[in-house]
Amino acid sequence: MKIRFKIRRCDPSSREGCEPYIQAYNVEVSEGMTVLEALIKIADEDDPTLAFRRSCRSAICGSCAMNINGFPKLACNTQVIPEYRKRGEIFIEPLANHTVIRDLIVDLTPFWKKMEKITPYLIPREEGSIRVTKEDEREIDRVQRCIMCASCNSVCSTLEVDRQFIGPSALAKSWRFVGDVREGGSKRRLERLSEEHGLWDCVRCVHCTEFCPKGVEPLRAIERLRCRAMEEGIVDNEGAKHVDAMVDSVRRVGRLDEAAMTFRTLGFLRSLGMIPFGIKMEIHGKMPHPIIFPKIEGIDEVKHIYRAREREKEKKD
Ligand code: SF4
Ligand code: SF4
Ligand code: FES
Repeated sequence: MKIRFKIRRCDPSSREGCEPYIQAYNVEVSEGMTVLEALIKIADEDDPTLAFRRSCRSAICGSCAMNINGFPKLACNTQVIPEYRKRGEIFIEPLANHTVIRDLIVDLTPFWKKMEKITPYLIPREEGSIRVTKEDEREIDRVQRCIMCASCNSVCSTLEVDRQFIGPSALAKSWRFVGDVREGGSKRRLERLSEEHGLWDCVRCVHCTEFCPKGVEPLRAIERLRCRAMEEGIVDNEGAKHVDAMVDSVRRVGRLDEAAMTFRTLGFLRSLGMIPFGIKMEIHGKMPHPIIFPKIEGIDEVKHIYRAREREKEKKD
């Protein structure tokens, strides 16, 4: 069966520079053939100038991540025919949120720099040997599956607008160490991650978890890091203040009191600048009036849940 492959290409050595263009190839494919095998066939038989990365061909090195029909996937782990049947075409592009070097090859320097920044190795605790239980192991099991393919970073909504954001892959890797009972530098790590462009800048779009080919669930790791940072008392930042304000708002009135939350998160002076925006939200029915702010019906039940949770926590402590 012949399938038409459309590939977004660019050649930095051409007169146009890395101006992208689409090139089509007709490829004879067989049952079970992967996108990577098809690309290798194109390069071998049709166009040796087509550039793409690959190494293991077994979904373990992370080299061949690219956008296939709009979503990041490992080319060596994606079969052509099912993909073609789902979408009616095969359209391949380089990973988004990265600068293209040539064709399907993107510059991963920022990705690796961020990985370096989080100190990607264990800092042993001072006390001698530590017993690691099955539960301890489970805490970091998922994040250990990461193969550094950068797919999560390519779909990250925060990275799209802020290239300095540390990104889901480095945050998942951070939990690999913070969540490890043998780690001795957790607090320092969490302090650094709680700074600007760090763990509180994630907007929880869930894309990283949805498109990770290895089930690492970076958002889950980010949530664990946030909880641990607050448990460690690292709360002098907007993210932690926002969480506190939200918990308090639900306890008081049973829902979000956006006006009070803004003041508690940003402080008085910075919140003043938000007033015109708040008025607009209120006019459009997006925010209840900050002064006449009724408690929800059944607020007693909400308070009851909070009390039960507090009792549970006291028992644990
Ligand atoms: S959930 Fe957070 S880290 Fe993950 S892709 Fe969305 S913004 Fe990025
Ligand atoms: S977390 Fe998943 S998507 Fe992100 S780099 Fe690791 S394996 Fe790739
Ligand atoms: S070639 Fe290694 S993950 Fe695809």
